[in-house]
Amino acid sequence: MTDKSKQDRVLIFDTTLRDGEQSPGATMTHAEKLEIAGLLDEMGVDIIEAGFPIASEGDFAAVSEIAQRAQTSVICGLARAQIGDIDRCWEAVKHAKHPRIHTFIGTSPLHRAIPNLDKDQMAERIEQTVSHARNLCDNVQWSPMDATRTEEDYLCRVVEIAIKAGATTINIPDTVGYTAPRESAALIQMLLNRVPGADEIIFATHCHNDLGMATANSLAAVEAGARQVECTINGLGERAGNTALEEVVMALKVRNDIMPFQTRIDSTKIMNISRRVATVAGFPVQFNKAIVGKNAFAHESGIHQDGMLKNAETFEIMRPEDVGLSETNLVMGKHSGRAALRSKLEDLGFELGDNQLKDVFVRFKELADRKKEIYDDDLIALMRTSTDPENDRLKLASLKVVCGTAGPQQADLVMHIDGTEHTTSQTGDGPVDAAFNAIKALVPHNARLQLYQVHAVTEGTDAQATVTVRMEEDGRIVTGQSANTDTVVASTLAYIHALNRLLVRREKGGKDTPEISYKDVT
Ligand code: KIV
Ligand code: ZN
Repeated sequence: MTDKSKQDRVLIFDTTLRDGEQSPGATMTHAEKLEIAGLLDEMGVDIIEAGFPIASEGDFAAVSEIAQRAQTSVICGLARAQIGDIDRCWEAVKHAKHPRIHTFIGTSPLHRAIPNLDKDQMAERIEQTVSHARNLCDNVQWSPMDATRTEEDYLCRVVEIAIKAGATTINIPDTVGYTAPRESAALIQMLLNRVPGADEIIFATHCHNDLGMATANSLAAVEAGARQVECTINGLGERAGNTALEEVVMALKVRNDIMPFQTRIDSTKIMNISRRVATVAGFPVQFNKAIVGKNAFAHESGIHQDGMLKNAETFEIMRPEDVGLSETNLVMGKHSGRAALRSKLEDLGFELGDNQLKDVFVRFKELADRKKEIYDDDLIALMRTSTDPENDRLKLASLKVVCGTAGPQQADLVMHIDGTEHTTSQTGDGPVDAAFNAIKALVPHNARLQLYQVHAVTEGTDAQATVTVRMEEDGRIVTGQSANTDTVVASTLAYIHALNRLLVRREKGGKDTPEISYKDVT
């Protein structure tokens, strides 16, 4: 690689499996993490942050298995500024062809106050922990958390210490999504100008989206000299999320005239991975989301449609194929076979094992009996439904609801709980409320319903409803999803799906629930 191309290359660091998974309710299973990591590796992500190995046995196992399987991506694990964290992180990533340790500490006044370290004590801690990491691994990333609210002089001081201690990448996080593009650029420029040794390492930018400026802030940092962008698929992440990978990649591609930087990403894989992450994380993509939203390439107004027919460039700045969206929305129906379903699902980014295909095929046939034409979006919705029903402890056997203008509405519910049939009849304020009351009567719990959301998947009165339910119990947040042409059935299945996930989380108990906090650095 020539010096020039090295300068123009922007490394893509994906943290969907670490920062993204920190979104309340976005917990992924081990198998799902492996699958997403495989897709990231395949699409050309330079560095995958696979998890936070000290956080739980589950995180450790996922990071080490991802490390063993990765083909070309660097595999990185997160560690607080503690020797024990760093050792555990190394244990997990050391199997990778290209391992990296990422260690961090909060450097702003607010963050320094929590472990009660003064500036000198914190500087010493940074020196010790980065050196320790570097003795284990030659690829070390260090982050001053809340960098954008850290005093400039102190930031320069600690960045210099980390570089001298052996950090090869310095990440500058806008942890609370507070900065703005001009300030983001100025900060990187200031560090490059003032810190000795800054030209020897790579600066990274890590932006949160609290003010909706994460992508703009990341790109501004790149223009100022950052050469690694940290991001997540669909912008998944804490609070309002992170910089979205697809936005950065496509912005650099489409506006290469004013931002002449290259990434290694195969953009045609974007749509598939976006759909997979939305499904496994249980976070549907908003319709008007840039690049990956359902409406990102849809044209409704007559003028737009007319312009599009004459020349697609009139209203599109990129081609749908550039992000892997196929033109065809092949209609499937009740006569479609298992092979056609498998091939269609593969086109949509879902790789299924034989057992999973069997389950999906049964549900596909049930849907095809109710709905004449099955579109791509119907299949994606079908895939959002629990894909491992055999292991579910709670199963819906049957549901009958009585609803209409003369209330109260009533739900007659039969469920299998750990293999035994249970029946109840409950009333409620509307059929969904009655069904939820019935579930609660059979499976008493204190989980609080945080979100209940219904979307129509396609047009028409026979459209499937896709329902998302999010619940919280003792700080554990779980989501459930389901799709059905009957909205009440979809709602009931989504609730049961969330409860099944809650039972799994309860069984894992404290062991798998990260009790540690980022602030706990001593
Ligand atoms: O937002 C943040 O500061 C982080 C750090 C752990 C890098 O995610
Ligand atoms: Zn973050």
